[in-house]
Amino acid sequence: MKILIVGATGVLGKATTRQLLAAGHKVRAMTRDLHKGEDLRTMGAEVVQGDLIDQASLLNACQGVEAVLAAAHQLMGTGQYTSQAVDDAGHCALIDAAKAARVGHFVYTSAQHASPSHPTDFYRTKAKVEAYLKASGLSYTILRPPAFMEWHLHNLLGAAISTSGKTTIYGAGNNPINFIAGEDVARFAVIALTDPRLKNRTIDIGGPDNLSKNQVVSLYEKYAGRTAKVTHVPTGLMKVMAPVLRPMQPVISRLMAFSVWADTTDQRFDPTTMLKEFPMTLTHVEDFVRAANGK
Ligand SMILES: NC(=O)c1ccc[n+]([C@@H]2O[C@H](COP(=O)([O-])OP(=O)(O)OC[C@H]3O[C@@H](n4cnc5c(N)ncnc54)[C@H](OP(=O)(O)O)[C@@H]3O)[C@@H](O)[C@H]2O)c1
Repeated sequence: MKILIVGATGVLGKATTRQLLAAGHKVRAMTRDLHKGEDLRTMGAEVVQGDLIDQASLLNACQGVEAVLAAAHQLMGTGQYTSQAVDDAGHCALIDAAKAARVGHFVYTSAQHASPSHPTDFYRTKAKVEAYLKASGLSYTILRPPAFMEWHLHNLLGAAISTSGKTTIYGAGNNPINFIAGEDVARFAVIALTDPRLKNRTIDIGGPDNLSKNQVVSLYEKYAGRTAKVTHVPTGLMKVMAPVLRPMQPVISRLMAFSVWADTTDQRFDPTTMLKEFPMTLTHVEDFVRAANGK
């Protein structure tokens, strides 16, 4: 089976490419910059240049594939790569291209809590694209993962503790959050791409642990062997600043609105039902943090 991965250089796209190739599938990996695809080519993927804001490139990328995984985003995009251009119009264009190329199945990576009334535009866009895909007539699976460990737990929080002993928490950091490893999301993506039982389903997935950011900091302190200097950006300040900054700094405004929501919304997830249908051993936060610190 030949599968197109859009966002193949990202955390989810790369892990899914690796797992699909290991299972004997053919992968066409799309990136805007062919240099970024060198390791994907080494793994055995066919690497093609494509851009979600370039409809012709999407039509080319979709030719001759049986399934597509949409695993790209521009949460922090600027210039021509605004979230509106990539996450909204670009993804609708990708769905149109897949339909025109008669692709058999489309897997869209949405997010837990995406809804038309979410306070962050990025999550409203996810809900809009979910609806666009469902109405397209394509066979589809929508996956709704929570925060990826690689980004929200490591790159944006814990990594700085290991390297500099300092980090910043946007908010009080007491709210429990469900984290999932990119490798585990990729396992669901592989199932969604290859198992017809997931056809036309929308599935909330998640990791085994619900931890607050303060608890994550404690784990990094434990495995980095140092006490962290933690700066908290007050939720009240972000609540006031998000709408003020929106016209001049839409990305910072979006991140602030997201941080307010993330710091004040219950994001716990119970994986029991999910694991009954998809038995697997999920990565625990503590194991991820230990490995991230080379322990
Ligand atoms: N990270 C999370 O915590 C999280 C949580 C829930 C859902 N998700 C969703 O999961 C998916 C994968 O996220 P991720 O964290 O793995 O992504 P990531 O590591 O941040 O990588 C982003 C990817 O998007 C691609 N991309 C950006 N702009 C593009 C454009 N104009 N055209 C084509 N490709 C473009 C990039 O490819 P090139 O630069 O090579 O072109 C890159 O491969 C996304 O849909 C995201 O919204 C993520």
